[in-house]
Amino acid sequence: MSAQEKWQVSGDAARQYEMHIASWFAPWADDLVKRAELRSGSRVLDLACGTGIVVRAAAPVIGESGELVASDLNEDMITEGRTHSIEGAPVQWRVADAEALPFESSAFDTVLCQQGLQFVPDKAAAVSEMRRVLRPGGSAVVSVWCSVDVNPYVAAMAEGLTTHLSTEAGQTMTAPSGFGDRDALHELFVEAGFTSVRVESVELMRTAVSAPEAIRGNLSGLPIADLVANMDAGDRAEMVGSMLASLDEFIEGEALSVPMRSHVVVATA
Ligand SMILES: C[S@@+](CC[C@H](N)C(=O)[O-])C[C@H]1O[C@@H](n2cnc3c(N)ncnc32)[C@H](O)[C@@H]1O
Repeated sequence: MSAQEKWQVSGDAARQYEMHIASWFAPWADDLVKRAELRSGSRVLDLACGTGIVVRAAAPVIGESGELVASDLNEDMITEGRTHSIEGAPVQWRVADAEALPFESSAFDTVLCQQGLQFVPDKAAAVSEMRRVLRPGGSAVVSVWCSVDVNPYVAAMAEGLTTHLSTEAGQTMTAPSGFGDRDALHELFVEAGFTSVRVESVELMRTAVSAPEAIRGNLSGLPIADLVANMDAGDRAEMVGSMLASLDEFIEGEALSVPMRSHVVVATA
């Protein structure tokens, strides 16, 4: 199993993911929902929904007459997602594997998937399932991080983890950027039979009032959070120091402002 496929959090880590990672995905969620051009009353599936950051951006746009299904393979993510009160469309939370969706064909107008497809072992099956559950003419709007070489924040974190903890720990940080090939992504949707497929490279800033806090929080939301917590305190401080040093050009005072780049697919079924 690759580092990508192992990218799962458990127990309290779902809460930590919500606090320290999903929270900084909020601008990305807003961007994804805007690109999807959702309407009042739409039937929408958020695939690999995690703790629901996209759900919370989509529900008010769809409104109470719409249908919103939030599905993820990881039950802990779903459990955490359910704890949030959400305005707008009523949300059905479902544990489901993206490779074999438990939904009827043509059940949705839109499928959203933010930073989830890269972790699915059989990506062709997942994209084919997206198309099956969409009505003809419906849209899939899917984001996947570009590669590490254009994401300096990820590179700095991964280098610190590799040097101070282990190669495997570093791979947990790079795994989300492990499917950064634009052409391969485009091809997946064409092969699945989508009629119009656009892949855009989108850059948004990852900002935080305190860079050290942001880094420590990010480490708490990773699947290897326990390994980081069990490090010697001095070694952990040294590791965070090395990450801060690598990000120096993006830090002013304590504040972090670093560009993050993602591919975003908009495809018509
Ligand atoms: C980085 S998180 C993104 C979560 C959410 N979309 C967000 O923006 O915060 C990746 C998610 O993909 C889910 N996932 C991984 N493999 C999956 C699969 N085969 N089917 C459904 N979800 C999967 C994980 O459980 C995790 O919640």
